[in-house]
Amino acid sequence: MEHKVGFCIETIPGDCGAVLFGGTGDLAARKILPAFFNLYRTKLLPRKFYLAACGRTAMDTAAYRASVKEKLKRFCGNAGEADLAGFLELVSYVKADYDSPGFFTALAAELDRLDAGTGVFKRRFFYLATPPASFLQIARRLKAAGLLDETGAPGAWARILIEKPYGYNLASAIELDKELALNAGEEQVYRIDHYLMKETIQNILTLRSVNNIFEGTWNGRFIDNVQITVFEDLGVEGRADYFNTMGTARDMLSHIFQMAAIVAMELPASFRDMGVKEAKARLFSSVRKLSEEDIVKNTVRGQYGPGGKKAGAELAGYRQGAGVTPDSDTETFFAMKFYIDNERWRGVPFYVRVGKRMPGKKTRIVIEYKKSDGGVFGFAGLDYTNVLHMNIQPEESLILSLNTKHPGPKLCFTRRDIKLNYRQHTEEYDVPGDYERLLLDAMAGDQTLFVSSGDMNFMWNFITPIVELWRNRPELAPLLFYPSLSAGPKEAGLLLKKDGRAWH
Ligand SMILES: NC(=O)c1ccc[n+]([C@@H]2O[C@H](COP(=O)([O-])OP(=O)(O)OC[C@H]3O[C@@H](n4cnc5c(N)ncnc54)[C@H](OP(=O)(O)O)[C@@H]3O)[C@@H](O)[C@H]2O)c1
Repeated sequence: MEHKVGFCIETIPGDCGAVLFGGTGDLAARKILPAFFNLYRTKLLPRKFYLAACGRTAMDTAAYRASVKEKLKRFCGNAGEADLAGFLELVSYVKADYDSPGFFTALAAELDRLDAGTGVFKRRFFYLATPPASFLQIARRLKAAGLLDETGAPGAWARILIEKPYGYNLASAIELDKELALNAGEEQVYRIDHYLMKETIQNILTLRSVNNIFEGTWNGRFIDNVQITVFEDLGVEGRADYFNTMGTARDMLSHIFQMAAIVAMELPASFRDMGVKEAKARLFSSVRKLSEEDIVKNTVRGQYGPGGKKAGAELAGYRQGAGVTPDSDTETFFAMKFYIDNERWRGVPFYVRVGKRMPGKKTRIVIEYKKSDGGVFGFAGLDYTNVLHMNIQPEESLILSLNTKHPGPKLCFTRRDIKLNYRQHTEEYDVPGDYERLLLDAMAGDQTLFVSSGDMNFMWNFITPIVELWRNRPELAPLLFYPSLSAGPKEAGLLLKKDGRAWH
């Protein structure tokens, strides 16, 4: 029997317009446009709404709608003709020239026209899904054209959504932040980390908050270590340009620390913006930065080489890929150990590993508890610890392994798992996904699941000395090669083995 817990909050966005820069791009096609379309067909878009997509490619609205229709058919299951037609009515295309202030003045006039046509007045969000190098220029020009002013109509608002990466090192992130602050208030800036929008990540906070069995033991008295794994089976797949500048550590930095924060932060007094932001900020201020010695001992960087087979053919290594130099030292695998120096987590290692071309796709957070002393059975020497697996994607489940009595007349112990599938009923598969959720929250003005300027600052401060040591003193932390579709460099296993532990 299922008991529904009697509590439900729904975020309902008010009427507004959306402007999508990079409307012809890969992310727009695969994620953003399908998310808008899914909101439309599940009736979660505001009653009055428009979507103005911008791109430098010359075309008119009719041609853009035709291209969007084709993409939606490809990337959304069961896109019915009536829904497609209804949604495309809301979509228009504006040819962009980001170097020209005249374009932004013309855009302002076009948005006023769309406002008048739909009855939405100066409540707009600007989604920057262009290459990161253009973020600042677009923000500056939006400001200069008055498009970030929250005036001109009752309840007017203007918000900017920014895709990752937010800078590529500490200096560029600080510059982006400083310049953005000149053009928009922090409450107008929505930095995206779509991992935070994942149902299974939000469920961690629910699990901790409303189940006494967890929160009471969620600390270093009971927990031995925490492990975060993010594996992809794909390689860089045509994104070598981007990847060569970033590498895995910087590319995945925000996802890793946002997940760590959800696991480790103190539970906030409220789950609205400020409560969560403050709890994360306190947590990050307690993360111990890695010294040079720590970086050498407790980080591992790797790059996939040839190996493994897909469709019968051996996969090429990273250096053999298109757009990659044969001596590239960009890492495609990263592992590390770090500590959080606060009352709750003192002495508990957090292990992280992230890699491309791994044997399968999985994002998983593991809580490994300390070994029980066995109580009255202490003499028996229990082999197993309790382990809580939180499978984030693609599998969405919780598995808790327990020590139990083995059935039978003898007194023997065995390990058994309790498994909870996050989605249990058909209708639970048909709920908004991560990009739908971020659009809903941005429209509703809820920044809880977005990343603050302080978070970004912490993350770049943490990672910059690591990637700089790798670059400037490579002999201290050499790049290690692993075959495609293997479990990564063996040194990532040694990181735990030397502490008497193993990856789960
Ligand atoms: N693709 C992903 O899986 C993914 C995942 C997470 C985050 N992101 C981030 O999302 C953003 C968009 O990614 P994407 O993969 O969609 O990129 P993309 O396909 O390379 O580019 C997006 C669009 O931006 C426009 N553009 C290209 N160069 C530009 C420039 N110099 N100035 C202004 N506009 C330019 C292009 O349209 P026009 O030529 O028509 O203007 C292009 O269609 C990036 O910041 C990326 O880091 C992407």
